[in-house]
Amino acid sequence: MAIRIIRTEEDPILRKTSRPVTKFDEKLWTILDDMRETMKKANGVGLAAVQVGLLRRAVIIDVDDGSGVIELINPEIVEYDGEQEGQEGCLSLPDKWAIVKRPNHVKVRAQNRNGAWRIVEGEGLKARALCHEIDHLDGHLFIDRMEKLLTQEELRRLQNERINGKEEDA
Ligand code: CO
Repeated sequence: MAIRIIRTEEDPILRKTSRPVTKFDEKLWTILDDMRETMKKANGVGLAAVQVGLLRRAVIIDVDDGSGVIELINPEIVEYDGEQEGQEGCLSLPDKWAIVKRPNHVKVRAQNRNGAWRIVEGEGLKARALCHEIDHLDGHLFIDRMEKLLTQEELRRLQNERINGKEEDA
């Protein structure tokens, strides 16, 4: 496994549409393994292949809910409902944060690394991560879906609320 360089905002590749994965071979598995290592190193909850410079419809997420890293190849959202508002960032846009509206629950149809189709469901943070990563495959970034970036002061306030456990009360 190897750490790959994460592309950042000014790189035009992030705005391109990724192509479907058609071969479920060792080359794909190496990419997925590298993405996993790169995401862990960067402390992310998700990563799309385009973020490491590969225009392929592959994403991984790990929202720390005990289910480990989930690999989604050629994913598509087949159902969504509810609404949530929450803080969102992106490994490709370091230091940028915003409050973004997302569905609270999504159902995603995707292949695993061997090409088998299955349904992955997510609520809350997992739904947010799924939407965010799938957006990357069509060149969309969270800044397209926000009203404005959070200021340093707003970020600090949100962080303090989390430490004091207010978020769960709200
Ligand atoms: Co991102």
